[in-house]
Amino acid sequence: LKRIAIVTSGGDAPGMNAAIRAIVRTAHAHGIKILGFIRGYEGLISNQFVKLDARSVGGIIHLGGTILRTVRCPKLRTRKGVEQAAETLKKNKIDGLIVIGGDGSFRGAYALSKKTETAIIGVPATIDNDVYGTDETIGFDTAVNTAISEIDKIRDTAVSHERVFIVEVMGRKRGFLALTVGLTVGAENILVPELKFNPEEICDDIVKSIQKGKRSSIIVAAEGVKGTRKLAKQIRKTTGCDVRLTVLGHVQRGGHPTARSRMLACLFGEKAVNTLLTEEKNKVIAMQGNKITTLSLKETVKHQKPLDIELLKLAERLAV
Ligand code: F6P
Repeated sequence: LKRIAIVTSGGDAPGMNAAIRAIVRTAHAHGIKILGFIRGYEGLISNQFVKLDARSVGGIIHLGGTILRTVRCPKLRTRKGVEQAAETLKKNKIDGLIVIGGDGSFRGAYALSKKTETAIIGVPATIDNDVYGTDETIGFDTAVNTAISEIDKIRDTAVSHERVFIVEVMGRKRGFLALTVGLTVGAENILVPELKFNPEEICDDIVKSIQKGKRSSIIVAAEGVKGTRKLAKQIRKTTGCDVRLTVLGHVQRGGHPTARSRMLACLFGEKAVNTLLTEEKNKVIAMQGNKITTLSLKETVKHQKPLDIELLKLAERLAV
């Protein structure tokens, strides 16, 4: 193993920089040369990279975002794009490519793995936590904590004004963030894209909670849940409550990574290089029950991570 490359891809996640640092420093210790392709798969397609060494990743462990920058790259969904990326790997004699990203980035990595001899390793990093095979992704814990601290503030004003708040968190397709955030802020209702919600039931819940003496309610909804605006109107009309909708948006994607996100980045980063050193190919690094392990890239992209419905039920039981 002489030369490896790193790419950060798709939506950024706090802890990506800590992962870059861990990879570069582990590789450096083994005398491996490291390139960082810039702007995600676009840099791979257009052969734009920077050389990375132990010093070039100093002072970044605590920074959100990614020093390599990132894009969503539709070109990698085309045959030509994949071939160009494979060509870049060949031209630069890259033995191993480490892709730091989420579900979509790994699908791109899988397509690329079929066209290249270079070993590809996925390091799960996304605030969505939607990568199959790993309990957690880099950045998820940070986004959860960012959303929690914002919603705690919203609760203050919700209580004093006796209002209902619908708070939209990120997650266009999956509800892992909404579920964890909803449970940990004590939301009265949690809406996820995986399950259709019933507006009448939500209104009933609110009426009942008022009868029980609750003065306010928080509904946490994932971005991918359709009709939150309409829901706000319906709650207003049916219950007579004052309702506000707050969209938290991209604040959830930035900020200093939490200890947990940094820890995962350090462990995943080292494991990615060690996996390449054992000449394994096309793997994804994962945490399963507090153990760092690997599974095949193919397995990851062919499966959907299941949402823990038991957690949703627990949130319901605790929000009485
Ligand atoms: O993949 C992470 C994520 O933040 C999703 O939760 C969200 O739906 C999406 O990215 C937003 O993407 P963009 O920043 O490209 O608008």
